[in-house]
Amino acid sequence: MKHIQFMDTTLRDGEQSAGVNLNPQEKLQIAKQLERLGIHVMEAGFASASLGDFQSVQEIGRVIQHASVMSLARAKESDIREAYEALKGAVAPRLHIFIATSDIHLKYKLRMSRLEVLASIRESVKLAKSLFPTVQFSAEDATRTEHAFLAQALEEAIRCGADVVNIPDTVGYTNPQEYLSLFRYMQQHVPSYEKAIFSCHCHDDLGLAVANSLAAIEGGALQVEGTINGIGERAGNAALEEIAVALRIREDHYKAQTNLVLKEIKATSALVSRLTGMVVPKNKAIVGANAFAHESGIHQDGVLKEASTYEIISPQLVGEEQNKLVLGKHSGRHAFTERMKEIGYELTEEERDRAFRTFKQLADRKKEVTEEDLHALILGETSLV
Ligand code: KIV
Ligand code: ZN
Repeated sequence: MKHIQFMDTTLRDGEQSAGVNLNPQEKLQIAKQLERLGIHVMEAGFASASLGDFQSVQEIGRVIQHASVMSLARAKESDIREAYEALKGAVAPRLHIFIATSDIHLKYKLRMSRLEVLASIRESVKLAKSLFPTVQFSAEDATRTEHAFLAQALEEAIRCGADVVNIPDTVGYTNPQEYLSLFRYMQQHVPSYEKAIFSCHCHDDLGLAVANSLAAIEGGALQVEGTINGIGERAGNAALEEIAVALRIREDHYKAQTNLVLKEIKATSALVSRLTGMVVPKNKAIVGANAFAHESGIHQDGVLKEASTYEIISPQLVGEEQNKLVLGKHSGRHAFTERMKEIGYELTEEERDRAFRTFKQLADRKKEVTEEDLHALILGETSLV
């Protein structure tokens, strides 16, 4: 079994979601919950981005005891020193340096040559390593970078002291097969490969962030990065709760374990949603309101007989109280009878058949038949009272 470290960037990449702005108290609240969730590293912010971010990184670094706290920094001396000032009181501080490596970014954004980028990696990683016990280097836009140059950049970073090297799919461009091959390529073409932990960081522009992250793990990534509920820049980041549960449920396939306390997932998701104002879609995997709801009669009958017929994840595993059998027009007699018993009606077969017919008529008009509707239905059927 390999061990996968989770790096949560809800407070940095997640906060880059359009329209999201967390104040320092809210960030601290989320950081404490991430600690309860068992996250290995949390990226608390970008210390040099603003005074607020600096103070927030500093406060989280001071309070969090059981996770490594990291700040983002450009490959610039001023950013690195500022992050150092923010995190010098932390139990396990980390610096995250990034610089783009793709030709598109070099030409249009950085206006730097490849040689200049390599020199910048060398200088910044060396400086960072003289100040921090652990340094992560990210090659921004790695998936659109020529493989040989990416290998060279990562090798330089490792040789200068990077403990973790990250291959971000910054613009959500790659696909699972391609990303897996990229990790395997690095295994063969980065001479110091064994000296660092390789990390994956996926964005969801094509809806592939979680699938790509899982592919990277198959390709050798030992750290996975993402956010709670998948929030983040544009279409967001990989949803960490989905990756964690996929690794657990398909442990047979991935042969990987994590330190995450999965029963904290629901609470973490709810907190992040409430404080960021980013509503979790009802059908979102793991944490959506419908993730454990069954509506069709065939499914409800199966679940009532044996939950594993239609549930691959037990709701309690992720901190959800129980599954929900929603009464609607697709529901069958079995779920209807069970719900009637639950709310106190022991009906004869004849009474039940009549009530069930009335229920079906109502369900044709209403999306969901609630407990109140069922009481009203029984009261309406005067002979059943
Ligand atoms: O998506 C990205 O490339 C990033 C880097 C800063 C790692 O968020
Ligand atoms: Zn990102």
